[in-house]
Amino acid sequence: MKTYCMLSWLLVLISCQSTISFKIDDSDEVGSENTFLYFAYGSNLLAKRIHIKNPSAKFFSIAQLPNYRLDFENINNSYWNGAAATIVEESDSVVWGALWTLDVKDIPHLDEQEGVNVGLYRVRNVSVHTPDGNTLTARTYQITVDPPKVQVKDMPLERQPSNTYMEVIVRGAFECLLPMKYIGYLVTFPTNGKLARSDVLQLLGSPFTEEAEET
Ligand SMILES: *[C@@H]1O[C@H](CO)[C@@H](O)[C@H](O)[C@H]1NC(C)=O
Ligand SMILES: *[C@@H]1O[C@H](CO)[C@@H](O)[C@H](O)[C@H]1NC(C)=O
Repeated sequence: MKTYCMLSWLLVLISCQSTISFKIDDSDEVGSENTFLYFAYGSNLLAKRIHIKNPSAKFFSIAQLPNYRLDFENINNSYWNGAAATIVEESDSVVWGALWTLDVKDIPHLDEQEGVNVGLYRVRNVSVHTPDGNTLTARTYQITVDPPKVQVKDMPLERQPSNTYMEVIVRGAFECLLPMKYIGYLVTFPTNGKLARSDVLQLLGSPFTEEAEET
């Protein structure tokens, strides 16, 4: 089982390396009054995923959020069929993510995607650092109830993300070129063996649809 897991991640890694596209956005849109910065650390690391509901999103930079840890919590999520990612305050931890610039008109779409109106996530303004030394304020989302800290390897089943969700995160992390050490940490989280709902797989397209056909 363990060997199988490692092999699957290796395949993800190889296919990411071969399909990776570098899309650095040079337009100076930060600070424009019609756009805002969004810090994504979960499924919205993947361009294809964020563009489903937020077509205006443009990749800006990777960034790190200090004094938070990445965690997962059960929110009875039938979309992904597993736990959802969140950030929890913790000194000396960091969460890496992607900064996207979005049109202000996408705020309601992003809020809806994060279930703000139904109390799943809340909006946070966080201060993040980019590798070129800038500190920027960005909008992000946090599950309204902080999950208790457990060792990653002891994550209870109901707090494990689905295979699809984790694969979206890891593929997104490769696409954005998050630090390898952090990607290595991401893949230590156990997954629950489930795929996302079939319409979600369809929205994500290749390779997620093919993986569903194989099972
Ligand atoms: C998830 O559903 C279960 C069973 O319906 C319920 O007891 C639990 O409170 C729900 N959890 C959340 C986070 O909504
Ligand atoms: C985040 O910052 C924006 C812009 O300054 C502000 O309008 C908004 O109320 C802030 N949101 C939160 C949750 O602090």
